[in-house]
Amino acid sequence: MKFFDTHAHCDDKRFEEEYEGGTLGVINDCLSDNVSYIINIGTNLENSRVSTELADRFENVYAACGIHPSDVFYEDPDKAIAVIEELLGHPKAVALGEIGLDYHYEDVPRDLQMIYFEKQMALAEKLDIPVIIHDRDAHGDCLEMIKKFPSVKGVFHSFSGSAEMAQELVKLGWYISFSGTVTFKNAKKPKEASLVVPKDRLLIETDAPYLAPTPHRGELNRSSYVELTANELAALRCEPIEEIQKITTENAKRLFRIK
Ligand code: NI
Repeated sequence: MKFFDTHAHCDDKRFEEEYEGGTLGVINDCLSDNVSYIINIGTNLENSRVSTELADRFENVYAACGIHPSDVFYEDPDKAIAVIEELLGHPKAVALGEIGLDYHYEDVPRDLQMIYFEKQMALAEKLDIPVIIHDRDAHGDCLEMIKKFPSVKGVFHSFSGSAEMAQELVKLGWYISFSGTVTFKNAKKPKEASLVVPKDRLLIETDAPYLAPTPHRGELNRSSYVELTANELAALRCEPIEEIQKITTENAKRLFRIK
């Protein structure tokens, strides 16, 4: 059985440092193991470009390009976002992301994060492309922002909100993606949220090299471990793993318009 990892950073320097074969090695290993597709996610201009290069190199790797709320330090936001627009012209760039808000650390001014978030949502509207949202401790403001752009749809990645928020997002037409955090013993909120997401809105991801699932918590994460998140969802939702594999693959292909 092969699983669709909708969110990984395979170009992260940790793979060069800690994985034999580095970035290309980990992608090869995961695709020849239990992974059908990987979306490699950009967080700035450099790695957004690298994502498109990985998509050129591997048939089953697709790219997302965007500026993450922790990377909002370009001299001219409009110029930086124009580069993202150009990268999204790549035939295998399937989403704008990851974008959003991160209030966990206090080192990036919120108003600056908001400027990049809003401008990139406007770009998604203009290009008619799905978005990948990073929302860390910023649930209210993220919800408010997406409501300003009702024609833009996408996914809240590594979902950390409540079951109520998941239901609201589903009503608004959005998808919910669960990462390794749903396998953590004390992860009451994501476990509860996973129960209310309808079958046609559920996605899975690793966020590799971060957030390795149990029993690899704290280790280097990789796309193959997405199966552990799928297993956890199957157990929580009392659905066969084959069903979780099937619906999460279909949903990812539908959202990201992959034939
Ligand atoms: Ni990420």
